[in-house]
Amino acid sequence: MSVLVTGGAGYIGSVTVEALREAGESVVVLDDLSGGHRAAVDVPFYLGDAGDAGLLRSIAAEHRVSQVIHFAGFISVPESARDPLRYFANNTAKATAMLSTLQEVGVRNVVFSSTAAVYGEPEQTPISEEHPKRPSNPYGLSKYFVEQILDWADAAYGVTHAALRYFNASGATATRGEDHHPETHLIPLVLQVPLGRRARVSVYGADYPTPDGTCVRDYIHVADLADAHVRALRYLRDGGPSRKINLGNGRGFSVREIVSAAERVTGKSIPVQGEPRREGDPSALVADARLAGEVLGWRPRRPAVEDIVQSAWDWHRSHPNGYGDR
Ligand SMILES: NC(=O)c1ccc[n+]([C@@H]2O[C@H](COP(=O)([O-])OP(=O)(O)OC[C@H]3O[C@@H](n4cnc5c(N)ncnc54)[C@H](O)[C@@H]3O)[C@@H](O)[C@H]2O)c1
Repeated sequence: MSVLVTGGAGYIGSVTVEALREAGESVVVLDDLSGGHRAAVDVPFYLGDAGDAGLLRSIAAEHRVSQVIHFAGFISVPESARDPLRYFANNTAKATAMLSTLQEVGVRNVVFSSTAAVYGEPEQTPISEEHPKRPSNPYGLSKYFVEQILDWADAAYGVTHAALRYFNASGATATRGEDHHPETHLIPLVLQVPLGRRARVSVYGADYPTPDGTCVRDYIHVADLADAHVRALRYLRDGGPSRKINLGNGRGFSVREIVSAAERVTGKSIPVQGEPRREGDPSALVADARLAGEVLGWRPRRPAVEDIVQSAWDWHRSHPNGYGDR
């Protein structure tokens, strides 16, 4: 029996494939390489679309796929605001098509990459899973639709799921790191300054109701995310019911705190440029991640922000051109 990982050539997917292999799982990856990297995958790999029914059927038959982790999707909040239909088509419609084929071929469990963006502007933080879901951008809505579709798939066909709502994935392992094009995530952008690839880093808004006025986010080490996926697969395999589960550190860091951590780690000064707020950017997003502990026995093992930034810095220094394919 194998685990099919869609989007396994991407950032979180490739680190999770590493963790699955270390846990003794047999893994196969399907990715269209729209955002991923062939060099990030060293298990059986299929180039193609997660919504392609024929391809899914043949992978499922050849590898006796029993469980799926669905990472495949587009990930940029600002891009989703500019081109929402592209996000609903890829993140929602293709996930729906995939679920339909999976249920037809007898796959009983799905782990789904959801996001803190399903919550929208928080009414209170830390944010628990019960918090109202009011996504403030098409990206978050495209994911929230899938969560609801998964509920109906469970009710009608008994396909169970763990929808894992990640906060800010960050950091790297020795061999897998973050190489998005364009890069929109704070830590890799900040590190581009000491890497000599940009002169300064933009900070959007310094008048938020946070201690230093800049946005606060919950940064969770990508290796901790990967560990949670291994646990979620086992939980579903053991018959656990469908759940929506936050994955975060439970602690927030402001943009300025991340820049300072990066200055300490790299020993270089990182100039910032103040910019106006971006529309739809909540002031603070911090997870209440207690449910992940209760249900999956999971807790972050690498919660220190300097450790997260250090791991990203190590990877970028050893991979100055990322995976070298862009
Ligand atoms: N990075 C984060 O902080 C974060 C936070 C919350 C949620 N997520 C979610 O986690 C998942 C992985 O994020 P990531 O940062 O690793 O992104 P990523 O872009 O590195 O990985 C996504 C992968 O999916 C592939 N893909 C996209 N559409 C596809 C399709 N239709 N068929 C096949 N492959 C397709 C891309 O080529 C890429 O390899 C995404 O679904 C994202 O929405 C990420």
